Amino acid sequence: MLISREMVLDQDIGLNGTLFGGDMMARMDMVAGITASLMSRNRRFVTLKVSELIFHSPVRPGEIIEFYATISRQGRTSLTIQIEVQVYAPVTDSHRDVTSGEFVMVAVDGEGQSESILWKPEAIQEANRAHETRKARQAGRKIPG
Ligand SMILES: CC(C)(COP(=O)(O)OP(=O)(O)OC[C@H]1O[C@@H](n2cnc3c(N)ncnc32)[C@H](O)[C@@H]1OP(=O)(O)O)[C@@H](O)C(=O)NCCC(=O)NCCS
Repeated sequence: MLISREMVLDQDIGLNGTLFGGDMMARMDMVAGITASLMSRNRRFVTLKVSELIFHSPVRPGEIIEFYATISRQGRTSLTIQIEVQVYAPVTDSHRDVTSGEFVMVAVDGEGQSESILWKPEAIQEANRAHETRKARQAGRKIPG
């Protein structure tokens, strides 16, 4: 599901004239945290693990980036979230893959100890539906209903 849409500004740009990788990682981490919160009734999540982070193509100032999240695993105290970042060009109504990565987020209590996740089933269903719709659209298939 689409979690956020942001614009890249001059101040976000690194030495190569493109978005600094650490900036992108921070944005993805924030999106992973937001996603975990949207899917549950827990107050706090921490990032346990980031894997398969791939920068597919650079992002330039003025470009709009979209963050999509898919729940790939629901555990007892953790969830695994696949984050895909794309540049969206409104003029051509087109997308370009820029970054993807997998984030494991753990629910923690006030002492920082892991705690059970109180899932919001309707939010999970909505996220799964959004994922299927997006994949079908990308594959060029018509969505029923
Ligand atoms: C996250 C943290 C609370 C987990 O503590 P812990 O005692 O290892 O927790 P647990 O053993 O109870 O495991 C918690 C969950 O992580 C999962 N987990 C542990 N190690 C894992 C690994 N290497 N890969 C994937 N999942 C892992 C466990 O399976 C469990 O999930 P589940 O209940 O859904 O099955 C602790 O490691 C921590 O505080 N880390 C620092 C977090 C942080 O500060 N992040 C910001 C980075 S700057």
